[in-house]
Amino acid sequence: MMKIVRSFLKSIRCFLGLTPMRKIFKKLKSQGVKLKSLNGLEIFGHTGEYHPRDYFPLIASLEVWEINSLCENTIRKNLPGAKIKITDSFKEIKTISGKFNLIVVDNPISTFDIYCEHFDLFPAIFSLTRDSTIFILNVIPKVTDKILKSYPYLFNKTQLEWRALFYCTQHPEKIDLNVLAAYHEKRCADNGFVVEWYFF
Ligand SMILES: C[S@@+](CC[C@H](N)C(=O)[O-])C[C@H]1O[C@@H](n2cnc3c(N)ncnc32)[C@H](O)[C@@H]1O
Repeated sequence: MMKIVRSFLKSIRCFLGLTPMRKIFKKLKSQGVKLKSLNGLEIFGHTGEYHPRDYFPLIASLEVWEINSLCENTIRKNLPGAKIKITDSFKEIKTISGKFNLIVVDNPISTFDIYCEHFDLFPAIFSLTRDSTIFILNVIPKVTDKILKSYPYLFNKTQLEWRALFYCTQHPEKIDLNVLAAYHEKRCADNGFVVEWYFF
C-alpha cells in the first residue's frame, strides 16, 4: 500500500516538474536542447523506477544497461519500448561506438565489485558519444555527517584513494564543484571534446 502511495506522489511531482530529472530536463530545454532529438543511454538502470521513468517520455529513445537480471522485467514495465541489456556496463562500453547523444550515469555511490563510482567508465565512455552529446553524471563533492549516518560506507578508505587518483587531489573528501567540473573539462579536452556548458 505504502509503495502505491509513494509511486502516486512521485507521479504528481513528476507531472509538476518537481523531480530532479524533470528539473534537469527543463534546464536542458532552456539551453535550446530539442528533447525529442535525444537518443539516450542509462548506464546503470536498476529497475528504471527512479530517474529514467521521469525523462523517458520526453526523449526519442532510451537504452538501459543493468547487471542484475532480476531487474529486467520491472525495467520492461517501467520503461515500455526501451531497449534493455543485462550486462556489465564497464565491459559493454568497450563494444559500442558513436550511438548516443544523451548519456546518464547514475552509478552506485561508493565502491562496488572491483569498481568505484563511475571512474572506470572513463575514457571509454567517450566512444559512445555522437559529435554533440549531453552527459548527466552523479558527482559527490563532499559528504556531511548527516549523510554519513545514512550511508556509513561512503568515503571508505578505498573510495577516497580512487577519488584522489581520479580527481588528482590530496583532498578527495572535499572537492569544490567548479574544481570538479574543471577536471571533467580537462578529461573531455584530452579526448577531443569541448565542454560547451554545464550546470549542477
Ligand atoms: C544507483 S542504481 C541506478 C538507479 C537507476 N538509475 C534509477 O534511477 O532507477 C545503480 C545500479 O547499478 C547497477 N550496477 C552495479 N554494477 C553494475 C555494472 N557493472 N554494470 C551494470 N550495472 C551495474 C546496480 O545493480 C544498481 O541497480
